[in-house]
Amino acid sequence: MNELQDLIDSLHAKYAANDRGQVATYIPELGKANPDHFGICLVSTDGRTFEVGDCDTPFTIQSISKPFAFGLAVEEMGADEVLNRVSVEPSGDAFNSIELQTGSNRPFNPMINTGAITVSAMLHALHGDRTFDHLLERFSAIAGRQLCVDQAVYESERRTGHRNRAIAHLLLNFGVVHEEIEAALDVYFRQCSILVTARDLAMMGATLSNMGRNPITGESTYSIRHVKDILSIMFTCGMYDYSGQWAYRVGIPAKSGVAGGVLAVINRQLGIGTYSPRLDQYGNSVRGIEVCVDLASRLGLHVFDVLNMGSSFLDAVLNPPT
Ligand code: DON
Repeated sequence: MNELQDLIDSLHAKYAANDRGQVATYIPELGKANPDHFGICLVSTDGRTFEVGDCDTPFTIQSISKPFAFGLAVEEMGADEVLNRVSVEPSGDAFNSIELQTGSNRPFNPMINTGAITVSAMLHALHGDRTFDHLLERFSAIAGRQLCVDQAVYESERRTGHRNRAIAHLLLNFGVVHEEIEAALDVYFRQCSILVTARDLAMMGATLSNMGRNPITGESTYSIRHVKDILSIMFTCGMYDYSGQWAYRVGIPAKSGVAGGVLAVINRQLGIGTYSPRLDQYGNSVRGIEVCVDLASRLGLHVFDVLNMGSSFLDAVLNPPT
């Protein structure tokens, strides 16, 4: 057996007994998830997969779509244009807070709803009616297989998304988004309703860790420069108002979603995907967090862990071969 496989097997056994937290019900359809489902998957940048538990169970990607949509926007419009509309500052507030930065009226960052809806609107301004199909095609390339939408969750989101509609109108009021706001919201609701598995999340993470190239198909999805943009915002803002504690305890870029997924990236090494739908008070998967905290401490994954020796490039400059 492999050591990584043994490790995730033991973490799965250890945390399966943890039944703290609640399945999200604010979107009624999400409340139907089986709270006991639990899967952990790792995919290395050379495409080796290690998995345990419910790694084939589909669930909706939800907010884990946000860094990937942001990546598309910077890829297609350039980082400057996107940052003119959305900042990259952690908000310290809940994902659905109705707030903008004082003075500029920009959303704080693209990982919370104000920023993500702005990104969806920017993509919609660029691609019009084709926006969602385009986004689904790009997400599928990142995952390395054709993804699809959970129609019931999408309709549930659309029917009950009053808070997101309020956010969209606030953005329209400040001229942050264009007037076809219902169409932009539709892109946002659909992108949150894309079905993935824990294995898909690990593969999508591995694509980011592999400089934007899917490890299995070899397809290039993001340029290296924009992978850096995506990972930095995941690092500082990916876990909502738990982001600071996450950076302190785990120290790797990650993103969670209210359906129970967590995606994390070990740059140039590994993608991590977990699924367990019981959430804590921040909207993060309880078991997903525990698994990542444990993995990070056992494998020395934190960027500032003593095992991380810094830049090999800098090392070569400081200590040139004699
Ligand atoms: O905007 C919403 O309500 C969701 N569809 C996305 C939420 C999400 O995953 C935030 N999570 N932690």
